[in-house]
Amino acid sequence: MKVIGGSASVILAKAVARELSAGIVDVAFEKHRGGFPDGERYVRLLGSVAGDHVVLVQTTYPDPMIVEFLLLADAIRDAGARRLTAIVPYFGYGRQDKLFLEGEAISARAIGKHIAVDANELLTMTIHNPDILKTLPIFTRDIDGIPALGRHLKTTDVDFLLAPDHNAIRFAKTASAICGKPYDHLEKERIDSYNVKIVPKRLDVRGKSVVIVDDVISTGGTIATAARELRSQGARRVIAACVHGLFVGKAEANLKACDDVIATDTIQSPHTKVSVAPEFAAAIRALG
Ligand code: R5P
Repeated sequence: MKVIGGSASVILAKAVARELSAGIVDVAFEKHRGGFPDGERYVRLLGSVAGDHVVLVQTTYPDPMIVEFLLLADAIRDAGARRLTAIVPYFGYGRQDKLFLEGEAISARAIGKHIAVDANELLTMTIHNPDILKTLPIFTRDIDGIPALGRHLKTTDVDFLLAPDHNAIRFAKTASAICGKPYDHLEKERIDSYNVKIVPKRLDVRGKSVVIVDDVISTGGTIATAARELRSQGARRVIAACVHGLFVGKAEANLKACDDVIATDTIQSPHTKVSVAPEFAAAIRALG
């Protein structure tokens, strides 16, 4: 088995390879120093994969990383790999999982269809809607990224977990079962892509260290609104924890409402503190 990382996921790919005691095949991402002037992606495998089972690790965010995934998968097939397992740690476009308006693309399905051209299997993590994977013509599995956060929180100064909205209750519940701390939730009303409103509710957080648990932090608007509510109810410390840290727009300013931010390595960022490599390695072993 050989592991290859796209440029969005080189660190995670190396960690998965270590977990599996598998070799890494390095990739050149530039033909000339500085890359192509028009921004087009370039890949070149720097080792052999002929006859190998190859695990390609690449988050499909931002958009150029989708192109890189497709180029890498094509190069791996061309180089004679026997089997290609795609690990897409953060599945970009996963949130456009149905027709909200007539004439739209079901973007999650469209991206999945193209991944399935060269991959034999697709493993994702805490995708917005795992059902979209069932529409693909290859074996797929969505792995829960929350247990990795839960294990980390077990070793952190935490008294209480909070789901910032109804959708996140399942995440707080799973993390709570692992780190052994109680949880509650808020109800969120989304005003638009940038603004949310929290329905007032009394929480048992006075003097406590509270972690807000969510699948994704995008603009940080949800977290900031929940953090302000926690502060107003006397929380001593507020921590934000997510599987996928996109941190777009005003996220860094919004997250100043928190004492700490914890994200996994599905998207590498300065807030990455937890690795999901053990989760993906276990899933690869389970493929047989
Ligand atoms: C929504 O369903 C997700 O679970 C997150 O709560 C949302 O994506 C967070 O977005 P933002 O950080 O922009 O508030």
